[in-house]
Amino acid sequence: MLEIERVSRSFGGVAAHTEVDLHVAAGEVVGLIGPNGSGKTTLLNVITGLSPAERGRVRFDGRDVTNLRPDRIALLGLARTFQTPRILHRMTVLENLAAALFAGSSGVRTLSAAGRDRLLGLLDECGLGDRTDELASKLTLPEQRRLELVRTLVSDPKLILLDEPAGGMTPAETEGMARLIAEVAAKGRTCIVIEHKIDMISSLCERICVLDFGRVIADGTTAEVLEDEAVLEAYLGRRDAAA
Ligand SMILES: Nc1ncnc2c1ncn2[C@@H]1O[C@H](COP(=O)(O)OP(=O)(O)O)[C@@H](O)[C@H]1O
Ligand SMILES: [Mg+2]
Repeated sequence: MLEIERVSRSFGGVAAHTEVDLHVAAGEVVGLIGPNGSGKTTLLNVITGLSPAERGRVRFDGRDVTNLRPDRIALLGLARTFQTPRILHRMTVLENLAAALFAGSSGVRTLSAAGRDRLLGLLDECGLGDRTDELASKLTLPEQRRLELVRTLVSDPKLILLDEPAGGMTPAETEGMARLIAEVAAKGRTCIVIEHKIDMISSLCERICVLDFGRVIADGTTAEVLEDEAVLEAYLGRRDAAA
């Protein structure tokens, strides 16, 4: 589904990635973890075409998408969320979904009754059924994150990339988000989840890839990776020290 081959990228001479390899098979839900600044978000930016790869290739669903325009890549069936939710604050929740549905389409932009029902159904599934006419700016952070996630689902993408979907959430809110990802977003889809909350990653992902200073330092089953000495040292150790 996704093949990242030896991707390298630097900013002003400082390497953000050094020869990153990551292959994700159809249907996999892969956790992408690593300390702050290790290159997780930049990797999503490279995959989605927002940040050019200097070297290396990205293949998605059998096509070379390296450095294609973000809207072209999105149309192939790839959607993402951002560390800071990107939603349309001055539109209602339902309007946000309609706007996502019409993005990239040049035809008539009126929502049919069936289309509206589908979006309302999605909102219901995602716990926003009672917020459909609320302005997005009025939503709480967890609700904004949910809305951003539902926006990625309206196009029924093959692959979704989630950048810290539970960032800033309480443990209970985090559990709700994990359930939403497992039961709705990642159902029948391929998914990469960036998250610092290891319990959430463990519950969602059978496989974890760990970045440190822009290099893959571990890639394997969740159980293997969370016992790996280098991972404990680079990531969990530092996190504990900071806590
Ligand atoms: N637009 C940018 N300009 C300069 N440096 C950047 C830019 N984006 C990211 N970086 C640098 O690349 C590295 C990786 O950042 P990032 O991918 O955001 O890490 P993470 O998401 O793992 O916290 C960091 O050193 C960061 O400072
Ligand atoms: Mg990040």
